[in-house]
Amino acid sequence: MDSKKMTTSAGAPIANNQQSLTAGTRGPVLLQDYQLLEKLAHQNRERIPERVVHAKGWGALGTFTVTNDITRYTRANIFSTVGKQTPLLSRFSTVAGELGASDTERDVRGFAVKFYTEEGNWDIVGNNTPVFFIRDGYKFPDFIHTQKRHPRTNLRSPEAMWDFWSQTPESLHQITILMSDRGIPQTPMHMNGYGSHTYSFWNDKGERFWVKFHFKTQQGHKHYTNEEAAKITGETREKYQEELYGAIEKGEFPKWTLYVQVMPEADAEKTPYNPFDLTKVWPHADYPLIEVGEMELNQNPDNYWQYIENAAYSPSNIVPGIGFSPDKVLQARIFSYADAHRYRLGTHYEALPANQPKCPMHHYHRDGSMRFFENFNSNPDAYYEPNTKGGPIEDSSVAEPPMKINGDVTRYEENDTYGDYKQAGDLFRMFDEGQKERLCTNIAGAMQGVSEYIIERQLAHFEKADPEYATGIRKFLNVASV
Ligand code: HEM
Repeated sequence: MDSKKMTTSAGAPIANNQQSLTAGTRGPVLLQDYQLLEKLAHQNRERIPERVVHAKGWGALGTFTVTNDITRYTRANIFSTVGKQTPLLSRFSTVAGELGASDTERDVRGFAVKFYTEEGNWDIVGNNTPVFFIRDGYKFPDFIHTQKRHPRTNLRSPEAMWDFWSQTPESLHQITILMSDRGIPQTPMHMNGYGSHTYSFWNDKGERFWVKFHFKTQQGHKHYTNEEAAKITGETREKYQEELYGAIEKGEFPKWTLYVQVMPEADAEKTPYNPFDLTKVWPHADYPLIEVGEMELNQNPDNYWQYIENAAYSPSNIVPGIGFSPDKVLQARIFSYADAHRYRLGTHYEALPANQPKCPMHHYHRDGSMRFFENFNSNPDAYYEPNTKGGPIEDSSVAEPPMKINGDVTRYEENDTYGDYKQAGDLFRMFDEGQKERLCTNIAGAMQGVSEYIIERQLAHFEKADPEYATGIRKFLNVASV
């Protein structure tokens, strides 16, 4: 293979890349060795901040194919015809662990997909769980502090986790999923993904529907017990990367079927639960799964850092035909992600290969750090809007229909008739004896060392979900403390 001539980053040829410039054979290094300085300075800048949550991740490129017509619900161009294909970038992650954390920790998994549609990037930034720990984004920074390291010990703190959860009973449903068998998937390929929030669809006629997104794994569910996961972590911390990267290299492309649950707009007034509450699911009997299409992952990016580390997902990335809902956590996330990307990746993060739309883009943002791409060069007179200089113009045909909202402004507590306990209890009652036993053992194990009053406060919540749930945990707590 012909090698290219090595140069500095300014293009000057390099004669020697091994020996520093010194005064004499044993002499000190000269400050004028700009090649050495450049090499060291660049190394110092190789890292960018890790994501404040979901730092450890694995991902791949792929394709989405429409298999069923849902144009009566949405005008989103991605769904316009059966058989239509759209390129995508997915990233899976754990939530709490840092960049070097083991892949097989018990944690919620992120499940993010960026669809490069013809009308802009559409991101589903979901998890492998259909619900979440909190129903208000105002609580998110406090919740995440309990999942990260203690300021003094620099260790994870079960005391903080259960202190917070036991005073946040809306978390019970998600805790039950996290501590169940599904809490440690064997690989990202063996888990479902959920948009989790309620979003909306709107169609050509301007009708709105509430919608939830579900990716069902076609590989089947596979999980590790705590003991199995501990053994795997002892052998490798990179299990997911090995499995996902390896499968795609072998041509064994993982697939998921995308389904939606659709709720007519007016139903939101009638359901006994708040359909915009992220701690609750919509019963499938009332809102059955409707197949939409298939996601296949079929290409490992040539460069992990450029595509997976630089990927910038945001729930604010929607396209015409898809809208938000009043879900309070979703509303907070609409702000948080682009803000995080501007900090983590820089002002022009959307110009990076992972995030660049594959459709034409025309906006009036200009200048700023690293604005190395088109900057009004082709039409320098059209740098404000409105203008009569041929600059890009708005298109009222993609206007979203109005969303009906009413109410008085205050800080409301949730007060639907389902409360915090029903769905957590229903899930517990669905488990067989083995599943219940493993759930209770996992919870009792996770409570080791936690103050008695916090454990009792938490057990009172499990009791309200189902008395057998609390009794089961108490039994294993007693065993563990003997
Ligand atoms: C990552 C904020 C709730 C799924 C992140 C990041 C932030 C964030 C700042 C890091 C972004 C980056 O640097 O690239 C929040 C806030 C939340 C919230 C403020 C609540 C108000 C959720 C929920 C879900 C979720 C409910 C799932 C349903 C994810 C995923 C990632 C992520 C999958 C990783 C995306 C990737 O792979 O790059 N979140 N989050 N988050 N979040 Fe959230």
